[in-house]
Amino acid sequence: MPGTRFTDIRRFATIDSTNRYLLGEARAGTPEGAVAVADYQSAGRGRLGRHWEAPPGTNLLVSVLLRPQVTVADRHLVPTAVALAAVEAIRGFGATGVGIKWPNDLVAPDGRKLAGVLAESDLGAGSDALAAAVVVGIGINANWPTDADDLPPELTGLAVSLRQLIGRPVDLDALLDAFLLALEPRVEDLTTAAGRRALVEELTSTCDTLGTRVRVELPDGTLEGDAVGITPEGHLAVRTPNGDRTVVAGDVIHLRPGS
Ligand code: BTN
Repeated sequence: MPGTRFTDIRRFATIDSTNRYLLGEARAGTPEGAVAVADYQSAGRGRLGRHWEAPPGTNLLVSVLLRPQVTVADRHLVPTAVALAAVEAIRGFGATGVGIKWPNDLVAPDGRKLAGVLAESDLGAGSDALAAAVVVGIGINANWPTDADDLPPELTGLAVSLRQLIGRPVDLDALLDAFLLALEPRVEDLTTAAGRRALVEELTSTCDTLGTRVRVELPDGTLEGDAVGITPEGHLAVRTPNGDRTVVAGDVIHLRPGS
């Protein structure tokens, strides 16, 4: 995309996973800015070991290779930057009310999922942690599902497409261009304290989780409470009967508006 670092765009009709591919490229020394985009993934990866599936040629399946100069503590803001860029791109297509379910799912106003983000890192043997590669993939439901009937049973009522939200088919190339254009300044933001603050502020104003009763699946158990804020670091503050807790990473389920 001219005017951005994303000039090396590699297109695949079929690939196992654009994230898997770019992680391999990262290990081989490919510079920051490489992009992999696929019509179809035979082994698309989702968060928490899940699969990410879409029929061929329907949705935007794209990964970007970044080498952000951020500390390990700030690295979770890399997928945040990607999610925020996707929100801007999607709004540019006329969708209203799209927000982020913390940490970085894109959701429609009724809570159905519009896009998911998966960041995978390669620290590299003995490499400088600051220069580690981060591959961030996003799957945006652009043209699939087309209606409620064409979803597999496990996704019924849970997924929505941009096409359904705006009532017309989506040009995938135009969506990719808009996404990469929106991503460029946010990747730049990652490199400064002021930029990272701006990303957290944007996350706060875009985050549908705030004000919602949530259940958070943590590695060591489950937490239930009201999502009351985003910390300056970008973590989720949850008010529970036992006091306020800060969630650094976890799978969040929206239960109902907060009490
Ligand atoms: C999630 O579980 O919400 C994250 C889904 C991420 C899917 C995208 S599609 C492009 C990229 N390649 C993959 O294998 N996964 C990501």
